Amino acid sequence: MLEGKTIGVMGYGNQGRAQALNLRDSHFRVVVGCPPDAYRDRAVEDGLDAFDVSEATQKADIILILIPDEVQPAVYRESIAPGLEKGKALGFASGYNIYFNLIEPPSFVDLFMVAPRMIGSAVRSRYLSGRGFPCLVAVGEDATGRAHKTTLAIARAIGGTKAGAFASSFKEEVLVDLFAEQFLWAGIGKLCRLYFETLVAAGCTPETVATEMYLSGEMLEVAKAMIEEGFFKQLDLHSQTSQYGQLSRADRVLGDGAEERARQVLEAIRNGDFAREWAKEQAQGKPTLSRLKREALEHPLNEIERKLSWSAQDE
Ligand code: NAI
Repeated sequence: MLEGKTIGVMGYGNQGRAQALNLRDSHFRVVVGCPPDAYRDRAVEDGLDAFDVSEATQKADIILILIPDEVQPAVYRESIAPGLEKGKALGFASGYNIYFNLIEPPSFVDLFMVAPRMIGSAVRSRYLSGRGFPCLVAVGEDATGRAHKTTLAIARAIGGTKAGAFASSFKEEVLVDLFAEQFLWAGIGKLCRLYFETLVAAGCTPETVATEMYLSGEMLEVAKAMIEEGFFKQLDLHSQTSQYGQLSRADRVLGDGAEERARQVLEAIRNGDFAREWAKEQAQGKPTLSRLKREALEHPLNEIERKLSWSAQDE
């Protein structure tokens, strides 16, 4: 499906670099589309041909949009849409801009998604080691009758079929991705802060609390065991006192109202309320994001990290 085609990789950051190099090493013709910046210099250093986004779009048969979701609509409007022709294909690594109608490609091009469930550096390293990574694939528009095959061919060429390519949709990708960020990671972050603050208020040493919580690396070992042994089966690696404590207290920690709050967070993603709020925040220069990040970086944990890594270096 890809033989004789030129694949235009727009963006040379986390995903762009990994996917462009994987496609090249799978023996396909790749051009990179980037503004003249440090990313473009890196593409040239890696031996790839790099052009402005509009020029790369014109040269490419298959266009992969691998620039940040926030800037995609403007770049699409100005530099990609004018270069689209019948027979070309447009691919995304996330469902965001298509699901929320922030980009509306013409129906004469194939529209597809190959969304790795993996950070860019590992998309590259796992391609090189032959291990691969899972990804979600979807077709939004099959203008040529070849869109499904093109999608799987791209997934395969970047290493995304070795661990499994799951038939999905732009919508499902948005829901699983944003709900992980806004429920799972938001919740874990909040629980960790509460763990720290409650124990320090009770007189425990902040360094000991931070070490127990995450600096020891035990959290990472438990997460690895969840993957290797099983989410619940890994409980056997903990003492029975721990097992009883974990299983019997979960509903006290996240009990009444948790299901309803989960449903509300998901609904705000699904119905576009979050996307509208985020668009407004961006238009205003991201004041809330700046404040929340500043507050996070003023949390006492930052000082403890500095102290502990400093003393570790001293040894
Ligand atoms: P990134 O932030 O690493 O992208 C940087 C690239 O975007 C650079 O080449 C830069 O030149 C280009 N760029 C930035 N602003 C630009 C502008 N105004 N005009 C033209 N080019 C511009 O992006 P990342 O993280 O690789 O994300 C790309 C896509 O991959 C997104 O759709 C994201 O949701 C998706 N994705 C990202 C993952 C990750 O590991 N970060 C994982 C899976 C999907």
